[in-house]
Amino acid sequence: TDLNRIRNFSIVAHIDHGKSTLADRLIQFTGGLSNREMKEQVLDNMEIERERGITIKAQTVRLEYKAQDGETYILNLMDTPGHVDFAYEVSRCLAACEGALLVVDASQGVEAQTLANVYQAIDAGLEIVPVLNKVDLPAAEPDRVKQQIEDVIGIDASDAIPISAKTGINIDAVLEAVVTRLPAPKGDPKAPLKALLIDSWYDAYLGVVVLVRIVDGELKKGQKIQMMAADAYYTVERVGVFTPKQVSVDVLGPGEVGFITAAIKEVADTQVGDTITDEKRPASEALPGFKPAQQVVFCGLFPVDAAQFEDLRGALSKLHLNDASFTYEMETSAALGFGFRCGFLGLLHLEIIQERLEREFNLEMIATAPSVIYRIHLTDGEVMELHNPADMPEVTKIDKIEEPWIRATVMVPDEYLGSVLKLCQDRRGEQIELTYAGNRAMVIYRLPLNEVVFDFYDRLKSISRGYASFDYHLEGYHEGDLVKMSILVNDEPVDALSMIVNRQRAESRGRGMCEKLKDLIPRHLFKIPIQAAIGGKVIARETISAMRKDVTAKCYGGDISRKRKLLDKQKEGKKKMRQFGKVDIPQEAFIAALKMD
Ligand code: GTP
Repeated sequence: TDLNRIRNFSIVAHIDHGKSTLADRLIQFTGGLSNREMKEQVLDNMEIERERGITIKAQTVRLEYKAQDGETYILNLMDTPGHVDFAYEVSRCLAACEGALLVVDASQGVEAQTLANVYQAIDAGLEIVPVLNKVDLPAAEPDRVKQQIEDVIGIDASDAIPISAKTGINIDAVLEAVVTRLPAPKGDPKAPLKALLIDSWYDAYLGVVVLVRIVDGELKKGQKIQMMAADAYYTVERVGVFTPKQVSVDVLGPGEVGFITAAIKEVADTQVGDTITDEKRPASEALPGFKPAQQVVFCGLFPVDAAQFEDLRGALSKLHLNDASFTYEMETSAALGFGFRCGFLGLLHLEIIQERLEREFNLEMIATAPSVIYRIHLTDGEVMELHNPADMPEVTKIDKIEEPWIRATVMVPDEYLGSVLKLCQDRRGEQIELTYAGNRAMVIYRLPLNEVVFDFYDRLKSISRGYASFDYHLEGYHEGDLVKMSILVNDEPVDALSMIVNRQRAESRGRGMCEKLKDLIPRHLFKIPIQAAIGGKVIARETISAMRKDVTAKCYGGDISRKRKLLDKQKEGKKKMRQFGKVDIPQEAFIAALKMD
């Protein structure tokens, strides 16, 4: 294909600003799918993605568009996730594009992830076309938002295209802009093959599918290829593109995006960012790669029913086939038995994996407190990375502990600014910058990540009635005054509830935890003390008094159905209980205890 007839682009936007809707509309407009085939939100094809309305796994679609100049163009649309946890996936998609549509909801304006994503695109050297979406809404203010894009992002928005992805207004103008305003790719078809490995996933029919962007040379069926960084060799079995239906093609040339299969066993055998070249005529040097995805949040996952341990192992290995960005290794807990210590890209990633395990594999699990990676400098000069509070060395062996800090950007309407500042301050934040764009404030804070993994995002949403948006990136490690806090129920430490906390915050955290557990653990026939302790020192305590009456005693008379319901409920509760010594702790207690107010 003539390079001048190809455009590779992606859509960057804040969550909910209409990226997927626009992608669908572009597919529909160019006839990639008939109306009947056009399921809602084609690109978001995982069930959870659809339900939560968020894009997780990046996808790509090849569209054919007959432009006003009479020529037919091939447009490769790379879908990117919008959430901060998946910033890494955004960056690898952008590396395969020459341009990006910046979608901003004209009734909302620029949000934190608009900024984060567009800056990534600008850094990657992409040409940006601003698009103002949802102009069909009465609340839309395209002129104000245009100004805001110029003021806050600092790019020219005079040619921003007002559209409605929902009703289809101006979709043709978007396609024209892709052709006329974005640059064509460059590349040499005669040069040795150089293709960027953008993504890979496991498909039940095709096996491991590898998404590639050809930079130089050609990629054909039967070709012997080399993955340069992995130093692995394969024979290409199939070459194709997604329209979004999967279609085989003979060859992919420079500037093109498509997939190959090559009898690759596992997704883990492919390295995202690797360069694929020809075995016989290899490229002299690899393309610049990416930094590997970084797990920043860790937690233990344990089956509620110990007999499901092997099922959990199987489920994790299956999920891992498709998402190599989380890690898992076996862990044992005195309280919870056998389970796995898992690492995730962020909290949402953790929730998604947990939810998929429950939903797709029918597993019931207990997740321990999410923890970040601490760097512990030992007195003997060694430095260890701590993923699990249970592995904390003795205090006497520790010289100092460092914790990860993030740089967070929060955008919020004026009236909620006070509460947001207070929240950041309460979480040991240091304010760096506070600016205004219209009636929205933009604050930049440095925060310890360990204060953010505990429901910071939920709190932010609730104090701003959902109007605040948030983005962060890891900044670096700094020394902190950190201690391990243990929780004791009936004088027995519950290892799954222990956590690393800032010393100044330990007491209030401990007190909060004890109060919560007091409400969450059902009464028993005996008194149960609940304590928080640092080393041997108790810093907070509560007591659950002994139970007197039968639960059914409070339903008077013969209302048998109500009695039955209560008993059933109790039975169900039983199923999800864990026994600690003589005490039963319901699963919800773990989850709830780990959330803060
Ligand atoms: P993520 O996948 O989470 O990144 O979200 P997204 O940016 O892809 O947003 P999505 O396309 O799912 O749209 C979010 C919501 O906005 C949906 O309820 C859409 O129906 C709605 N929406 C999208 N475009 C328009 C539009 O032009 N007008 C109106 N009124 N609603 C729209």
